[in-house]
Amino acid sequence: MTVCAATNNPGKLRELRRILERLGYTVKSLRELGIDLDPAETGATFAENAALKAAAFCAACGLPTVADDSGLCVAALGGAPGVYSARYAGTHGDDAANNRKLLAAMAAVPAGQRGASFVSAVCFRLPDGRALAVSGSCPGSIAFGETGHNGFGYDPLFVPDAVGVPGSEKTLPNTARRSYAELADAEKDAISHRGRALAKLAEELPAFLNRPQEGSIG
Ligand code: IMP
Repeated sequence: MTVCAATNNPGKLRELRRILERLGYTVKSLRELGIDLDPAETGATFAENAALKAAAFCAACGLPTVADDSGLCVAALGGAPGVYSARYAGTHGDDAANNRKLLAAMAAVPAGQRGASFVSAVCFRLPDGRALAVSGSCPGSIAFGETGHNGFGYDPLFVPDAVGVPGSEKTLPNTARRSYAELADAEKDAISHRGRALAKLAEELPAFLNRPQEGSIG
């Protein structure tokens, strides 16, 4: 199946593409589809924003569309930055400023109280209006400084509790306390919020597609 990966975030697009392609989908980016659209993320939850983006991009491209709304929820900050993760420091998508602000907000928080979780809400939308919503999360903690250069966003500050083992279903405790940005792609995808949400999507999609449409006979 060919799907539109509905994001303007290059880091997220790379991940959506590699995970969805591994799961057997053909992926088209917004750029490949000639779509220049930036729907306002006015929802109060990740799921609302994912649904809103999936609907807007699906209407624009006419293809089955996968949208992800995601973010980092830090316990010591009452769940912030949460749905505001992309614009935590004010400017949408300024990763460096967001990371600086997060480190400053966490400066006085001791090890042991730096728990956080990454959350991804994914909405798969068909041009006929049917939609399937799934989500995934990844528990971890916030480091005291940035490490690693892979990935995007808060990756250099987020230390997941476990890491994936490439070529296997297994995960291992992250005893070396490597950040998301220090993991190989396959190590991150196996345990990441987005990897987990998309694995759930692939699992639930066949039954969703076979379900009779409302109003159809049989
Ligand atoms: P949105 O889903 O477009 O609202 O943006 C999500 C924001 O959360 C991104 O801009 C990043 O700051 C952050 N984010 C989401 N997923 C990840 C990830 O896998 N690594 C690092 N940051 C992420």
